[in-house]
Amino acid sequence: MKVCVVGAGFVGLTTGLVFAEHGHDVRVVEVMDSRLRQLEQGKVPFHEPGVQDAVTRQIAQSRLRFTSDIREAIDGAECTFLCVGTPQGDDGAIDLRFIKQAAKEIGDALSAKERRHVVVVKSTVVPGTAADVVRPIVQESSGWNVPVASNPEFLKEGSALKDARAPDRIVMGIDSGGEYVWDLYASFECPKLTVTTRTAEMIKYAANSFLAVKIAFANEMANLCEDVGIDWLDVVEGIGLDYRINPSFFQAGLGFGGSCFPKDVAALAYLANSHKHPSGVLNAALASNATQPLRAIELLEDELGDLEEKTIALLGLAFKADTDDVRETRALPILHALQAKGAIVRCHDPQACETFLELMPDANVITDLDSAIKNADALVIQTDWQEYKTMDPAHLKAQMAGNTIIDGRRALSPELFADAGLNYRGIGYGANESTD
Ligand code: UDX
Repeated sequence: MKVCVVGAGFVGLTTGLVFAEHGHDVRVVEVMDSRLRQLEQGKVPFHEPGVQDAVTRQIAQSRLRFTSDIREAIDGAECTFLCVGTPQGDDGAIDLRFIKQAAKEIGDALSAKERRHVVVVKSTVVPGTAADVVRPIVQESSGWNVPVASNPEFLKEGSALKDARAPDRIVMGIDSGGEYVWDLYASFECPKLTVTTRTAEMIKYAANSFLAVKIAFANEMANLCEDVGIDWLDVVEGIGLDYRINPSFFQAGLGFGGSCFPKDVAALAYLANSHKHPSGVLNAALASNATQPLRAIELLEDELGDLEEKTIALLGLAFKADTDDVRETRALPILHALQAKGAIVRCHDPQACETFLELMPDANVITDLDSAIKNADALVIQTDWQEYKTMDPAHLKAQMAGNTIIDGRRALSPELFADAGLNYRGIGYGANESTD
């Protein structure tokens, strides 16, 4: 099939790429000049494992092309995937500016004549958006009854390509017409679910919100485990054996970040509120997530006392490993809190130094790990990059001035680090206090 994808972010580019890998002819529309120039030269504008090589291959096979011209991309295509950003407005509500603009442009491009075409909303949008916002705009600007479907994306940054190539399910919301969009996924082997567009949109929000609530729960339980001398990972193993409780996404840490969880939970909470059914659970997860990064500060103060003039290496600026994305990274509130305490903070990340500097231009960002840890009083691991997981405890001990390691993501082995004479504190790691 000929496919048009609007938006070349993580979701749009990965979606287009995987359709190309399945033999479809894909054109991706990108309006941001700098991003389009890079893509036209075959360069992926963000760090995402495997994507660059795969894009290079599909460009060489002429199955993946980029343009800023939506009319050219839609010409001859049987479907258009809407993959633009849905930022959070000031009040927490979803901001549909880019969706509306893209819907209008798609409708205009389809206005020449009626044909076989379905518009598929892949961006994360609140229930009712495809039917009540996108469809009227597309139909008004095209002048005909273009079907609009909803196909939420569940890929995770850092494993976007793997997730998109082997999804655990594909959900398609179809209200009237456009069922043939399923042909695109004919060669994907996984459960496939057809629902209404509203239900598809709600499935995405409910999935992300449930995972965010689960993580907030894990964080609070892990904090408690530390207090009472228990290792949260042992608890996860025990409760995970209950067939009703899936042990994945139960990793306690310094809070959830990224472009989805914080924004999607806030948008669903806002929607619940606007329907006069405020969600105590969602609001509590957001509040819990706002304070969780400060757990790093509490642990540091526990070990070092006053943090004024203390040198702290903040390791990990990306919101998670294997991405250079710093949206809603927990590194930011930690950095702000350390600065407020008068600490000297050195920030390090294997991939996200540049993106973090865009967010925080005056941050002391150091690209070399050894220089970041040299003579530091303490380390805080905010992202579980492989580079940190493989740090040699003896080397750290020799390089640092102090010996405190705050493992905010349980990336390290407590025993190995304690054996090397380092003072290890990990989220959810109680010291296994004896009861006698
Ligand atoms: C998320 C959803 O997982 C994905 O299905 C959806 O399409 C987009 O939003 P993403 O934000 O890319 O994906 O990454 P994810 O792996 O879900 O992590 C989000 C945040 O939760 C990160 O800050 C991560 O560190 C944190 N997290 C994740 C935990 O703290 N504990 C966990 O067990 C898992």
